[in-house]
Amino acid sequence: MTVPDALRATVSRIRRVVVLTGAGISAESGVPTFRGEQGLWKQFRPEELANVDAFLSNPSLVWEWYAYRRKLLSDAQPNAGHRALVQMERLVEDFVLVTQNVDGLHQVAGSTKVLEIHGNIRRNHCQHCRRPAQVDLLQSEGPPKCDYCGGLVRPSVVWFGEPLPMEAFGEGDRAARRCDLFIAVGTSGVVYPAASLPLTAKNAGAYFLEINPESTDLSRYADGALRASASDGLTEVVTAIASGRNSP
Ligand SMILES: NC(=O)c1ccc[n+]([C@@H]2O[C@H](COP(=O)([O-])OP(=O)(O)OC[C@H]3O[C@@H](n4cnc5c(N)ncnc54)[C@H](O)[C@@H]3O)[C@@H](O)[C@H]2O)c1
Ligand SMILES: [Zn+2]
Repeated sequence: MTVPDALRATVSRIRRVVVLTGAGISAESGVPTFRGEQGLWKQFRPEELANVDAFLSNPSLVWEWYAYRRKLLSDAQPNAGHRALVQMERLVEDFVLVTQNVDGLHQVAGSTKVLEIHGNIRRNHCQHCRRPAQVDLLQSEGPPKCDYCGGLVRPSVVWFGEPLPMEAFGEGDRAARRCDLFIAVGTSGVVYPAASLPLTAKNAGAYFLEINPESTDLSRYADGALRASASDGLTEVVTAIASGRNSP
């Protein structure tokens, strides 16, 4: 597993990098991904629970699933993959981190600028009036009621069928159009429009590198792939960028 030669040859000229992360980067922190055995909870597929209809028809069930996921997160620590991205932010002149993750581990690791295009599971707001709500995050007895309007409080994540936060996605999209290198790491590339970002970057002339132990729906568009874990793959790329900076 090494950085592809074509990328290594140009690494000293790379000034603008966009990284798109998915659940796979947090797998090594013990946070389950959505695909594969571990993603299942009480035999439900995530798509069945992560949507507004499921929440309105069975608020307690959906709230309980989030309580379970928050509990898993309460012990999770960032791993070497998250930390490699903190280093990359320091090394690269124009660096943009776009995450589909809702776990907040990039910020815990020390990344200062993170575009959270699917929200954050640690925050909540009212489904009815949209005001932010402070709740006991480990509460598992159904969703609380909003203090202002009595509406149901829900996690501040983007559910299937809901629009993305326009500002964050727009910023990620603009960064994708101007970058030299786009890295998709730990994402299956099946959730749109997030999965369109690497294609946008590639169409604008960027080198597209995929880091994932398995091939994905994005693989056929990739200019190069590191079939490795997020921690090994990102450490490798940061080392290559750092050595590119030090060479004459
Ligand atoms: N940690 C989280 O915040 C979290 C967890 C589960 C799901 N989600 C949500 O799930 C949606 C699903 O899309 P997704 O593409 O992010 O995840 P996904 O579950 O669809 O895919 C995970 C990908 O990670 C890869 N992977 C597994 N272990 C890895 C490792 N050690 N290193 C690198 N890659 C590894 C898998 O091969 C797979 O391609 C997202 O919208 C996200 O909001 C978030
Ligand atoms: Zn309200």
